[in-house]
Amino acid sequence: MRRLKKRNFNRSNGRKNNLSTIIEDIVTRKIFNSRGEETLEVDVITVDGFGSASAPAGASRGSAEVVPYPKGGVDFAIRKIEEEIAPELIGMNADEQETIDLLLHEIDETNNFRNIGGNTVCAISLSTAEAAASSYGIPLFQHLAGSLASNLPYPLGNVLGGGEHAGGKASDIQEFLVLPLNASTFSDAAKANIMVHQKVCSILEKKDSTFTGGKGDEGGWAPNIRTEDALKIMVEACKEVSNELDLECRVGVDIAASTLWNSKENSYVYASDGVNMNPEEQLDYMLHLIEKYHLIYVEDPFHEDDFEGFAQLTKRVKNCLICGDDLFVTNKERLAHGVMTGSANAIIIKTNQIGTLTDAWETVRLAIKNHYTPIMSHRSGETTDTHLAHLAVAFYCPIIKSGVVGGERVAKINELIRIEESLGNRGKMSNLSF
Ligand code: PGA
Ligand code: ZN
Repeated sequence: MRRLKKRNFNRSNGRKNNLSTIIEDIVTRKIFNSRGEETLEVDVITVDGFGSASAPAGASRGSAEVVPYPKGGVDFAIRKIEEEIAPELIGMNADEQETIDLLLHEIDETNNFRNIGGNTVCAISLSTAEAAASSYGIPLFQHLAGSLASNLPYPLGNVLGGGEHAGGKASDIQEFLVLPLNASTFSDAAKANIMVHQKVCSILEKKDSTFTGGKGDEGGWAPNIRTEDALKIMVEACKEVSNELDLECRVGVDIAASTLWNSKENSYVYASDGVNMNPEEQLDYMLHLIEKYHLIYVEDPFHEDDFEGFAQLTKRVKNCLICGDDLFVTNKERLAHGVMTGSANAIIIKTNQIGTLTDAWETVRLAIKNHYTPIMSHRSGETTDTHLAHLAVAFYCPIIKSGVVGGERVAKINELIRIEESLGNRGKMSNLSF
C-alpha cells in the first residue's frame, strides 16, 4: 500500500478543494522540440479545466540530474503513463499538487525517476497544476502562489554561444549573456536584451567576414571567435544599449565547465582558444574575466563536483552572481551541501532536473532562506510551452534565463509581458541588489 504524506506547498489563496478540479482524463502525445528531438506532451483534463505541458531537454546535462526518460525514450514514457500512471491519477484532485507529486515518486520507486522518467514527471506535474488553475479560471502563477506573487523577473538572455550548443570553431564558453539592470518594466528589459542581441550581430558583421549569422541552440550568435574577443563585443554592445535606453546592461557567462573538464589531465580544456588550465589557473582566469569585463553573472565556472572551487571563487568576488547549474541540478541536498561549504550565491532552477514542481519549489525555498538567488531557467531544447514564465513569478525568482530570440524562447518572454500587463499597478520588477 502506498503511504501518502501531505506536504506544504506555497498556496495561500484560501480556495477550497471542490469537484471542479477532479481529474477525468489524461492524454499524451509525442511532439518535437526546438532541436527536432522527440519530446513528451501531457494533457490533464479535469471536470472544469484543462492543462497541457511539454518537457524540455538539456544538451549539457548535469550527471546528478534525474533520468529524463525510461529506457526506450518517449514511446516508453507514454506507455508508462497509459498503463501505470493515468489509472492512479484519474479521480484524484488536481488541486492537491504535493500529493500527486509524491504519488509520482512512489509509482517510480527509485531516487532518480529512472523507471518513469523525470521529463515524464515534469510534464505531468506541470499540466496538473495548469489544469487546477484552469478549473478555477485563474492564471498558473496565481494558482501556485496566491496573490502574493507580483514581482517580475529580470530576463537573463543568451546573446552569443559556443560549447555544446554550437559546435564548429565557436567559443569554448557555452553562453555569453546579457542582464538589463535597472529596467523599470519587464517589457523594457526584454527590449534591451533584443537590442544587445542585434548590436552584437552588427559588430560581428563588421569585424568578421566569415560570420554568416549562424546561431546556437538557444538563439545566441555562434561565430568563430575567441573567448575574450566575444566578451569585448558583448561589453561594447551592452555599453551602447545602456546609453541609448538609460539603464545598465551587464554581461554574464555560462562556462558550463563540466563540458571542458578532463579529469585524467586534471585540467579544463579550451580547445578553440588552444589552452589547458588546472583548477588554480581556472580560478585565476575566472577572477580575471570578472574583473576585466565587469561580469555580473558566472554560471558553472568549475566542474559539477568541485564545490570547493565554487567556494573559493564566491569568497573572492563582490557584486557578482556565482551560479550553480550542473553543480546543484535543482537538488535540495546538493544545495544544502553548497550552503554548508559556501559554494555559489545563486542557483539555476530547472524543474526537469529534479522532476516535480514540489521538489523544485522546495529547492527554491531553501535557496531563498539561505540568500541564494534562484534563477528560473529554460533548457537548450524547448517547445513553445510558456509555463516557465509563470513559475518564475510564482517561485519569486528575481531572474529568468530564457533566451532572447527564437519562437520557443520569445514565447516565455511574451507570456511575462502578458503577466506584467495583468498585474497592472501591483506588478513590480524584482529587487536585484548587488
Ligand atoms: P542544457 O544546458 O543544454 O542542459 O539545457 C543549458 C545550460 O547549461 O544552462
Ligand atoms: Zn548552465
